Amino acid sequence: MPDFPDSKSPEPVEFPAGVSRETNTGDAPRIVAIANQKGGVGKTTTAINLATALAAVGARVLLIDLDPQGNASTGLGIGHELRDRSSYDVLIGACSIHAAIHATAVPGLWLLPSTVDLSGAELELVTDSRRMHRLRDALQDGLQEQAVETPHFSHIIIDCPPALSLLTVNALTAADSVIVPLQCEFFALEGLSQLLRTVELVQSTLNPALEIQGVVLTMFDSRNNLSQQVAADVRSHLGPKVYQTIIPRNVRISEAPSYGKPALIYDHHCAGSRAYMQLAGEILRQEKQPEAA
Ligand SMILES: Nc1ncnc2c1ncn2[C@@H]1O[C@H](COP(=O)(O)OP(=O)(O)OP(=O)(O)O)[C@@H](O)[C@H]1O
Ligand SMILES: [Mg+2]
Repeated sequence: MPDFPDSKSPEPVEFPAGVSRETNTGDAPRIVAIANQKGGVGKTTTAINLATALAAVGARVLLIDLDPQGNASTGLGIGHELRDRSSYDVLIGACSIHAAIHATAVPGLWLLPSTVDLSGAELELVTDSRRMHRLRDALQDGLQEQAVETPHFSHIIIDCPPALSLLTVNALTAADSVIVPLQCEFFALEGLSQLLRTVELVQSTLNPALEIQGVVLTMFDSRNNLSQQVAADVRSHLGPKVYQTIIPRNVRISEAPSYGKPALIYDHHCAGSRAYMQLAGEILRQEKQPEAA
């Protein structure tokens, strides 16, 4: 029986010995939305483990849970009783980002948790002319705050819900870039054109600087011919935007959230954890050489 995270605050953990840490000294944080309107493709798993892998190499990361399901919050061990202030409160302007973030058990990783209240935000904001900018505005205000305890983030990762809703549009409006997880299954590319159209719409109106940072293949099963075929198909359609790193289907990854831990902490040796470390390395190299992206 797993020790469910809702019962207590997470204990701090330590990174495995031998993980090299480098300091990221960039000024403005890089804001990355993890988006795909398809459900269950690995958005939250990627958000949690990419954020953890970045923190493991010295980044100071804020993960924003922008999904009313709150899976990123649960998966990081922040139970419902700790979510007194959440991304909902930030979006409707009831509090600042810094008043709502939690340190997690992972050194260098903070969380803005979500609650189911977030599902009502769309309706509540319907008459607000800046409703699509709420997160961007909150981040801009929040990051200017110079409170003593304010962590200076190098990366902000936003876990989006499985819909092209106002919440996802808020994430895309606030973000510098979007990373799209694609599950290695038959309908992997289905719906992608809709997502790309939404990104283009946001680029042309709300956020011209938004770019597609990359596509990450998830839940790859090397024993399954279909997985191989889908991966090849996605690469032939999307070319260099697809990361070299492929996230394998791995049972340790699916077990980790029920312990309130990133896979990288739950079992840092497993194939899934190693893949997310490799993905973080690829992304950091890409950020250092944007012209090569
Ligand atoms: N590489 C993997 N290997 C095995 N299981 C995985 C892997 N990645 C994700 N899963 C499992 O698949 C399910 C869906 O993953 P996840 O919650 O990350 O998807 P999602 O896109 O965030 O879903 P939603 O659209 O509902 O937010 C979860 O049970 C998760 O533990
Ligand atoms: Mg999710």
